[in-house]
Amino acid sequence: MDAFVIRGGRALKGRVKVRGAKNAVLPIMAASLLSDGVCVIENVPILRDIVTMSKVLEHLGVKVHDVGTGTITIDGSGLNDHIAPYELVRTMRASVLVMGPLLARLGKAKVALPGGCAIGTRPIDIHLKGIELLGAKVKMGRGYVQVSSRKLAGAEICFDYPSVGATENVMMASVLTKGTTIIENAAREPEVQDLAEFLRSLGAKIEGEGTSRITIEGVTSLGSTTHRVIPDRIEAGTYLAAGIITKGRVTVDAIIEEHLRPILSKMEEAGAHFEYHGPSITVSVPDGLRPVDIRTMPYPGFPTDMQAQFMALMTITPGTSSIKEAVFENRFMQVAELNRMGADIRIDTNTAIVNGVKQLSGAEVMASDLRASAALVLAGLVAHGETKVSRIYHIDRGYDEIERRLKTLGADIRRISE
Ligand code: EPU
Repeated sequence: MDAFVIRGGRALKGRVKVRGAKNAVLPIMAASLLSDGVCVIENVPILRDIVTMSKVLEHLGVKVHDVGTGTITIDGSGLNDHIAPYELVRTMRASVLVMGPLLARLGKAKVALPGGCAIGTRPIDIHLKGIELLGAKVKMGRGYVQVSSRKLAGAEICFDYPSVGATENVMMASVLTKGTTIIENAAREPEVQDLAEFLRSLGAKIEGEGTSRITIEGVTSLGSTTHRVIPDRIEAGTYLAAGIITKGRVTVDAIIEEHLRPILSKMEEAGAHFEYHGPSITVSVPDGLRPVDIRTMPYPGFPTDMQAQFMALMTITPGTSSIKEAVFENRFMQVAELNRMGADIRIDTNTAIVNGVKQLSGAEVMASDLRASAALVLAGLVAHGETKVSRIYHIDRGYDEIERRLKTLGADIRRISE
């Protein structure tokens, strides 16, 4: 297993270009199952999760070309299976996103139940309720869910919660479904918007993405397309956090500022200063950091995927900050590890109280999920001495060449194999 060894204390300086958004590419890859044409997807990051999704699609009979380059081509003409097996789904929950497209194209799908994961139980009840309202039968088996329908029909669906995955699954299930489907209380995340854009470029009729009411008018077939994926707002936020925590000056290129707004406004409140030059943003910290209170929320609230990285910032911010995790039930795995590095964080149910300390100290810590690992790397960049972050396969799921890119910003970080 690989680990990172980081020597903290260097102020990061320079520029880094953000890659395409993992959480946009994964549903877009699943959505390509809806077409028997060819989908060319550009600005694809090179990540383990992308390889896993390619394996899922290939298992279903679809050809995926050029995985591991920035542009992949998916030819949906060979789709011949409706089963997403456990050995693939268990390594990546996003595999559940093939359910909507398989149901729409083949009239059935059998998907292994992903089960809980490090950050919570993560049920898929909202996905299934939506799909049932479109007319599908849902059958729960041992460790899998089966959905089937002779004929789906457009429906009005009101979600109990604006789930990102459920919005995507229902959107995909309904683009080839006769009639009009309306999703109320839909997720508004930029990644949902990008999926709608991709589907529209294939010929789907969708309106309202980015608001909490999405309308889909069913069409009879979809064609081929070339689509460029939006930049990863969480990756961008993480590099900005690296600039802030080391009191450096980092420019992140190829961003969409609007998508970053909820993150930038909290960083500003904490004392960061931003300069904007078109699609680039430069961060610096002219007067030190101030404590802030954060509550994670669905977009356009503060994203749960930046919570752990923000906590790393707060560990060395004078005063007391509070971070309430309101999206996932168990997303504080970084806390014990940050405390091993000298942080002073206490958890009270789903709120973390962070008392800023003068200095973190290097330690051996363990990555436990993607964003918690990113927080440990950030802490390592500023800690006194050497930090070893083990089990970094978690970070490789969502950050493309993070150590090489931090190195170009001046960080002392290397990957070792243990
Ligand atoms: N939920 C339910 N029932 C459902 C669906 C969701 O109770 O049927 C609950 C979940 O358990 C969770 C909350 O609702 O507590 C939010 O879940 P949501 O469905 O919105 O999230 P997701 O689709 O499973 C995506 C991202 C996550 C990101 C969340 C929230 C992908 C592949 N994953 O997950 O990304 O945290 O939205 O923004 O798009 C990450 O990148 O590190 C990551 C975990």
